[in-house]
Amino acid sequence: MITGEALLKSIAHSQVQEVRSITRIERIGAHSHIRGLGLDDSLEPRAVSQGMVGQKMARKAAGVVLQMIREGKIAGRAVLLAGQPGTGKTAIAMGLAQALGPDTPFTSMAGSEIFSLEMSKTEALTQAIRKSIGVRIKEESEIIEGEVVEMAVERAAGGGGARVGRLTLKTTDMETNYDMGAKMCDSLLKEKVQAGDVVTIDKATGKINRLGRSFARARDYDATGQQARFVQCPEGELQKRKEVVHTVTLHEIDVINSRTHGFLALFSGDTGEIKSEIREQINSRVAEWREEGKSEMIPGVLFIDEAHMLDIECFSYLNRALESDTAPVVIMATNRGITRIRGTNYRSPHGIPLDLLDRMIIVPTSPYSHQELREILNIRCEEEDCQMSSDALTVLTRVATETSLRYAIQLITTASLVAKRRKATEVSMEDVKKVYSLFLDEHRSEQFLKEYQDEFMFNDGSGDAPQLMEVSQ
Ligand SMILES: Nc1ncnc2c1ncn2[C@@H]1O[C@H](COP(=O)(O)OP(=O)(O)OP(=O)(O)O)[C@@H](O)[C@H]1O
Ligand SMILES: [Mg+2]
Repeated sequence: MITGEALLKSIAHSQVQEVRSITRIERIGAHSHIRGLGLDDSLEPRAVSQGMVGQKMARKAAGVVLQMIREGKIAGRAVLLAGQPGTGKTAIAMGLAQALGPDTPFTSMAGSEIFSLEMSKTEALTQAIRKSIGVRIKEESEIIEGEVVEMAVERAAGGGGARVGRLTLKTTDMETNYDMGAKMCDSLLKEKVQAGDVVTIDKATGKINRLGRSFARARDYDATGQQARFVQCPEGELQKRKEVVHTVTLHEIDVINSRTHGFLALFSGDTGEIKSEIREQINSRVAEWREEGKSEMIPGVLFIDEAHMLDIECFSYLNRALESDTAPVVIMATNRGITRIRGTNYRSPHGIPLDLLDRMIIVPTSPYSHQELREILNIRCEEEDCQMSSDALTVLTRVATETSLRYAIQLITTASLVAKRRKATEVSMEDVKKVYSLFLDEHRSEQFLKEYQDEFMFNDGSGDAPQLMEVSQ
């Protein structure tokens, strides 16, 4: 197994590129203003930085977790972000992901995702855990790097159309002739290599890469075209050793090696269940690579939002999974108080069993002050390209204090549309008041329902809607 290592890497590589090009088409999402945790070098939170405002204790705690992940030594830690709705739990997790950078795997899922019909709950969790562990594979390859002095391609005498050729390459110190077979000739022609180009040739695969034109030949051609890139003629030996590093996740290796699905499943996401024998084989192979110094493990982060949606089976699976030495750091977030553990009739803090809570460190988040709310709303206005007058922002901050931060953030978009309709460049207090009357917040909606409940269908008439409804099963 794992025969096509090169294949594996090229797939993983193209997949990474694909993800990047998708994120480039930026849309403004709920957390798009968050660009990190906003910490200074000693991991102290700055008041306002990288889109983050206030919530200092939780951010500082996230900074400690960040350091723990970066050091990568301690496996299987779990962190619970617990606090009221809208206090920035998801935002902090997103900030942490940004602070970790693209090289550390960060998998984000909602607790409810495991109830997909395609696979069992434990399989979904196993995949999520394996997506959060990266393997950095080092590979040394021999390449030939030099400037093309001369090249000649001709048809072999009597050979039915096959080409043969000669290539002369030089560095500043030496010059060598190479005989080329048909394949090399074809790829040289395909890459449109000319004399004066600096190229690299991978000795194992024969792949030719054009780095650019040599500076020394810059004046030989006037019409080099706009795209011509000039590079120095390489120094030293023609043959060089080069270390190439690829990062893939354990899950990607699993998928590529599971016969029933094949690597294309990586693109469709339709991976189905993966046999445990395959995982075991891969674990031992990766351990071998590690011992041989060919690869390195990068434990990443698995973020489970709305963790109270997991049920007792998932929690007990996580208990066990956290004890494995290849476990990632698991971060969960919940806004629930003391509530029923899904799948049981027992109640517990955050709806999480006590034995799992005991394995976690809990980071609380608390409601924002007036000033912090104003600052967050201000940042959101900038993010949405919305000019807002100072008194409009004051009104909006009051709305956020009296209703919720989320509702106030929603009003920014709607108010800016109202302002645009009257062809104003700035959102005024009136615009905010108008959208406040057009769109109800949760509290006013409840009042409205109480008033008119008799005219609605399926009304149970009790009249007191609970503040936060329990999710029933
Ligand atoms: N400290 C902060 N700095 C900047 N923006 C914040 C901060 N806290 C929250 N926000 C923004 O406020 C909104 C609500 O926060 P978020 O979604 O993180 O809340 P939450 O704690 O996850 O709530 P819930 O429990 O309902 O999931 C988001 O748009 C978020 O980006
Ligand atoms: Mg959230």
